[in-house]
Amino acid sequence: MESIPYRAEDVRGNLLRLDLNENSYPPSPKVLERIAEAARSCNWYPRPSMMRQLAERLAEYAGCNADYVLPTCGSDEAIELVCKAFLERGDRVVTVSPTFAMYRFYSRVQGAEVMEVPLEPPNYDIGDGFLEKASEAKVVFLCNPNNPTGNLIVDERLVRELLDGERLVVVDEAYYEFSEVSFSKLVEDYSNLVVLRSLSKSFSIAGLRVGYCIACPETLEMLFNVKPPFTITSVSIAAALGALEDVEHMKRNVERITYWRDRLISEINSLDGLRCLPSKSIFACFTCRDLKIANVELVERLKRRGILVKALPRKPWFEDFVRVTVAREEENLRFLEVLRSVIEELGGS
Ligand SMILES: Cc1ncc(COP(=O)(O)O)c(C=O)c1O
Repeated sequence: MESIPYRAEDVRGNLLRLDLNENSYPPSPKVLERIAEAARSCNWYPRPSMMRQLAERLAEYAGCNADYVLPTCGSDEAIELVCKAFLERGDRVVTVSPTFAMYRFYSRVQGAEVMEVPLEPPNYDIGDGFLEKASEAKVVFLCNPNNPTGNLIVDERLVRELLDGERLVVVDEAYYEFSEVSFSKLVEDYSNLVVLRSLSKSFSIAGLRVGYCIACPETLEMLFNVKPPFTITSVSIAAALGALEDVEHMKRNVERITYWRDRLISEINSLDGLRCLPSKSIFACFTCRDLKIANVELVERLKRRGILVKALPRKPWFEDFVRVTVAREEENLRFLEVLRSVIEELGGS
């Protein structure tokens, strides 16, 4: 089996973590209340009725029927279930590059071959040839908005064209609340569409691991058939229900983050030698190529000053990019101050 294990970096000391697209705002107080209540019953396995209730609440939130929703242990588990249910050794998966690494990871675990079609600079849009490449695929993974480029890479026309074939099309909307663009309504017309969502980012419960799939009941059944029974803990189910009771709390935080995202992007763009891509997500992605410094070196210098951001793997079409999570005001200001001082040190603006 040719797969590279995913290892999250453990960080010691008082570093400001802006490398994993987490939400710096705490979740709603309702989440903490529900966790405290649920913790008292943690001697029991989660009851199927709790999962049903979660599916119902998620469906209400997403504006679809509960039969069309399958809650999962983070959207990571949803990606794993899709790969387990639909892929065998030798099958082909098509996605773009750069994109979220877990599509490749779980596809390879199944023995599938992954074709990554480069996004096209300078804006990192999907190229015209994608549809043709996707025609050879059993499963197509698309992240919209894309991680790490931050842009919406597909529109409804392209998604419908992709769905008109036999292949399964997975649209990962982990950052949906930051873009407000969704293709979830198309699941009523296409049984080969799976939309993935997450409560990690917008609802601030990454540590509790709750995501969900939206698809037609027949497709969800195929995913359910390969799902172990108790992957979402009773505490996490309760927390997710608490988060969904307070959608207003989430919306307020998303609004603050999107305000700061746009401000951060223009501040980064005002620095000589840096170019930041527009973003519809919780992060900003910029290149330091014109500074003549490798992204890993820039990231190391930021780390020495207490800030952790992500150096993205270099490709000929995607050089020296760095991804930074948009956080709360004081954290964004600290990041900008440190970034400016590193650039000055390097002889830039
Ligand atoms: C595009 C994308 N999909 C899925 C995930 C996984 O999220 P979750 O915490 O729901 O497993 C991430 C996490 O960063 C992501 O960026």
